[in-house]
Amino acid sequence: MALGEGCPAEHSAHAALETLMRRRLGRECLYVPSCRLGLYVALRHWCRPGGRVLMSPVNDDVIFFVVLAAGLRPVQAPLCARDGSIDPAGLPESGWRGLSAVLTTNLYGNPDPAPELRARCDALGIPLIEDAAHAIGSEVAGRPVGGYGDASVFSLSKHVGAKSGGFLALADPGLRTELARARDALLEPSRLTAELAYALRPYAEAGVRGLRLVRAARAALRLLGREERAEIRMPLRGAELRKALAGAPGLGGFHSWIRVDMHDYRLRSGRSRLRRTERLLGGLDQRLDLHRAGTEKLLASPWGEPGGAAGAPGPGGAAGAPGPGGVGGAQPLFRVPLLVEDRDAAIAALAAHRVTTGYLYDPPLDDYAGEVFTDPSPAPEPAAWFARHALPVDPCGADQVIAVLDALGARPARRAESGVGHGGGG
Ligand SMILES: Cc1ncc(COP(=O)(O)O)c(C=O)c1O
Repeated sequence: MALGEGCPAEHSAHAALETLMRRRLGRECLYVPSCRLGLYVALRHWCRPGGRVLMSPVNDDVIFFVVLAAGLRPVQAPLCARDGSIDPAGLPESGWRGLSAVLTTNLYGNPDPAPELRARCDALGIPLIEDAAHAIGSEVAGRPVGGYGDASVFSLSKHVGAKSGGFLALADPGLRTELARARDALLEPSRLTAELAYALRPYAEAGVRGLRLVRAARAALRLLGREERAEIRMPLRGAELRKALAGAPGLGGFHSWIRVDMHDYRLRSGRSRLRRTERLLGGLDQRLDLHRAGTEKLLASPWGEPGGAAGAPGPGGAAGAPGPGGVGGAQPLFRVPLLVEDRDAAIAALAAHRVTTGYLYDPPLDDYAGEVFTDPSPAPEPAAWFARHALPVDPCGADQVIAVLDALGARPARRAESGVGHGGGG
C-alpha cells in the first residue's frame, strides 16, 4: 500500500521502529529507507562541499559514491592487516590536517577504534561519523558501536535481514527535526510496484533457492535489481563519474552508482514494509546470539585470527589490545573475515556447496578508483593484503563452511612476522 506524505500510519510505524532502536543504542534515532541515504543526510549536514573525509579503502563501493555525491573528497586511511580496521597510528600527522570528517566502517562488525578516533576528531574540531551497517550488535570499550560519533548510521538489511531500512542516530537529539526534514526532502514517493516486489521477494527467493535453481535464482535477483555486479566492484565508468562530480553535491547524478543492490534506497517505505521490518527488528537479539556463537566457532578455526581483535570486544578498540580471552564473548559479527591463502579456490569450493560469498571489497578503493577520484592511503599494502585474503563468512553457516574448507585443505593466510597484526611491515 502506498502512503502519502505525513500519513499517520507511516509516522507511527516509524516511531515504533525508532523506539526499538533508541532503547538499544541510548541515542535519538531517525528511521531512513536505507543506511546509504542516512549517510548522505549526515555528510550533507556535517561537511561542507569540497571537504575531505577519511574513510576505509576496504569498503562497499556504494559508500565511496555516497561520499562523492555529498561533494566530498574521499581520503583513504591505512588499515590493520589482521582485521581491516582503520589504523590511526599509520596516518602521519600531515594526513590528519585538512580533514573535514572521519567516517568509520566497522568492517563485518569488527569495530574501528572509535575512542581513539573520537579523541582525534575532538582535537581537530571535526565530526566523527560511524557507519555501523555491519555492526549493529558490536561494542567497543564497553559502548555500542554507533555510540561515539556525532552521527552514526545503521542498516536493517544486514543482521536484521529486512533488506530495507536503517537508522541515522544522533549524539545531539536537538538535531532531530532538522535532519528529519533533510531526510524527507530526499525521499521519493512509495510505489505500489516497489512495495509489491518487496512483499513478494522473500517467497520468490526462497522458492527458487529451495528448488536449487541457482541460475534461476540469479536471474530472478537480476530482474529485481539485486545483482548488478559481474565483478566484485561495480564498473567505475570514469568519464561519466567526472561529469557527475561537476554536479555534486546531489544524489541525482550519482543515482546509477548509489542504487546498486538497492534500487529502493530513497523510496518512502510503505506500511507493510515497515511492519515486516518491525517484526524482524524485534527478533534481533536472537539473531545476534546466533551470530555470536558462529563467530566464536569461526575465529577458533585454523583460518580465524586467534588473538585478533575481530571477535573480542576489547577495551581500546580494534587496534588496541583485545579483551583478555574475549571478555563478554565474541562480537556478533555480520561476517567473519577468515584469512585464507587461496581465496578464489575457497569461494569456488563453497559455491559448489551452494554457499555464496558476498561482501568482498577487493581491490581497495584507492586501487579501484585511482587518484583522480580519491587520495590514496599512505600505506596501502596492509589493506591490499587483507582485501585479497579475507573470506567473509556468514557465522550462521559456520559448521558447513568449516567442513568445506577442511575438505578442501584450505591453507590459512599468514603475513610475514612484522606485518601480522597492525598496519606496518609487510
Ligand atoms: C559498510 C556498508 N555501509 C553501508 C551500506 C549500505 O547499507 P544499505 O544497503 O542499508 O544502504 C553497506 C551495504 O552493504 C555496507 O556494506
